[in-house]
Amino acid sequence: MNKQELIREALKARKTAYAPYSGYLVGAALYDDCENVICGCNVENASYGLCNCAERTAIFKAVSEGRHVFKAIAIAGGLRDREELNDYAYPCGACRQVLREFCNPKEFTVIVARSEDDYREYTLEELLPESFGPDSLV
Ligand code: THU
Repeated sequence: MNKQELIREALKARKTAYAPYSGYLVGAALYDDCENVICGCNVENASYGLCNCAERTAIFKAVSEGRHVFKAIAIAGGLRDREELNDYAYPCGACRQVLREFCNPKEFTVIVARSEDDYREYTLEELLPESFGPDSLV
């Protein structure tokens, strides 16, 4: 699985986003240590506070299927009506923290993509420095 393929999965997952309130559609594709790809989209709710981000949908799906070790995530997001994604969709703070629970922040790669060929890449540590995680509790 290369980066382009993971981005393609995120763009595909974005098509299933349920975002009637914000109109902001997000897809995420998570890559685990066994070379599985687990996708997620944002799922909104008329009770706005219950909206769930694409990244957390993917992580919760994966963990509920017994996968706990992840290597990378590709994220693609943007407003529904735009022809092209006009910006990179960075993961929100809550999703960064949820990723932190299951990743090595120095090794985990976060890819934010506008297209297969237009993306930026970070370690989780760059996006969530000096983080609190499972190791803080032992
Ligand atoms: N959203 C995500 O799916 N991921 C993020 O990291 C940021 C925001 C979604 C939540 C909501 O459905 C919409 O984008 C607008 O905030």
